Amino acid sequence: MQSSKQSTNSFSSSLGAIMAAVGSAVGLGNIWRFPYICGKYGGGAFLLVYLCFAFGIGMTLMLSEFVIGRRSLHTPVKAFESLAPKRKGWRYVGVLGLITCFFILAQYLVISGWTVSYFFDAITGRLATMGQNATAISDYFNGFSTSALRPVIFLAVFAVLTAIVILGGVQKGIEAVSKVLMPVLVVLLVVLCVRSLTLPGASKGLEYLFSPDFSKLTAEGVLAALGQAMFSLSVGMGVMIVYGSYIPVSDNLFRTSMWITASDTFIAILAGVAIFPAVFSCGMEPAGGPGLTFCVLPSVFNSMGGVMGTIFASIFFLLLGIAALTSAISLLEALSAWLLETLRTHRWIATLVIIVAEIAVAVVVSLGNGVWSDFHITGITIFDFVDRLNSIYLPPLGALGTVLFLGWVLPSDELRDELSNQGTLRAVYYPAVRFIIRWVAPLALLVVFVSSLL
Ligand code: PHE
Repeated sequence: MQSSKQSTNSFSSSLGAIMAAVGSAVGLGNIWRFPYICGKYGGGAFLLVYLCFAFGIGMTLMLSEFVIGRRSLHTPVKAFESLAPKRKGWRYVGVLGLITCFFILAQYLVISGWTVSYFFDAITGRLATMGQNATAISDYFNGFSTSALRPVIFLAVFAVLTAIVILGGVQKGIEAVSKVLMPVLVVLLVVLCVRSLTLPGASKGLEYLFSPDFSKLTAEGVLAALGQAMFSLSVGMGVMIVYGSYIPVSDNLFRTSMWITASDTFIAILAGVAIFPAVFSCGMEPAGGPGLTFCVLPSVFNSMGGVMGTIFASIFFLLLGIAALTSAISLLEALSAWLLETLRTHRWIATLVIIVAEIAVAVVVSLGNGVWSDFHITGITIFDFVDRLNSIYLPPLGALGTVLFLGWVLPSDELRDELSNQGTLRAVYYPAVRFIIRWVAPLALLVVFVSSLL
């Protein structure tokens, strides 16, 4: 059964699988979140903790999802059902994962829409006309992101683009697009790094990013490192279960997960090197999230003057758009593949249904940031509420369910089989991986989840 399903619905090679999963992992989280929290929580000190979490726990979570996906050859809900047919309750870990994917994609569409819009503003010179006037730039951003129509048009454009890739299928859509866009992304990022590092006073930015300051590494910072590692590696919501089901049976899952984790971390660090030296060089203050991307950076690019500013701003927003697209693809694929499997329908019907539902919810999220910002859920706007769900509450819970299932429900020889490819690989790391899955990861995730409730 494995080989027949795998031949029609799988990545063509190990490299293809790595590129697609790196595409999922490298997203807005790497470019606008990692550099900022790294600087905020002690630079090199944070980096050290982040590396431990990414390679110790994040990578193990990814490996766990790959094991569940490749072992079952199903999408999240059915995957849990088929691996533990007598313990039906575990399917809800899959359900939770899909709900998380749904909300993350809705929020992703809104911010990706802003990115596309800014790309056009950059390339047509509109951003440049604002110069370094910080008030004008932030007024422009606030006006634009809270308006009713323009963000909605751009999020719809981005959603359609994502759906077109998914309609191409696993090999000709996801894999082919990732194989082209990932190298392009790295080249664009390196160009930005060279520019940033050759600006006067660039070293202050590197200091902010790398010089270790253990006094800034608070408990909050440590938790942020684990949350960021999970979000950045796209784990905790079943996306990697779906991608795992497409990984060729001969692939070494441990090695694949290591390559993905290393690439994702490397790109997050490169993003910091591209951004902060430039920010400090023009005497600006670092900020996080949307403020950094849509207010501080345009001003930094404009300080490079005329055509240069336009070129580098266009490169940056193109890069951000690419990173967002390959992540959105993985989220949409997880949801469409689930619907496809559940309804046994055509790929295009499943994709169409999901993308229409996503656009509808994304419009609500977008309006929740603007004309509907007076409408509150638990005291915060719809936009902030969805952001909280996506970054704090849902992913740790999904990840916890996944490791508990793999560590305590699935018979241990199934894990060993998948890691050693039915005994053909010497999986010397098996005892360590199992120990992390059974003890370390659940405890860490429990701490993260409980502390998010406090
Ligand atoms: N890893 C992506 C990022 O860093 C976000 C993401 C999460 C994508 C979950 C897919 C699934 O931005």
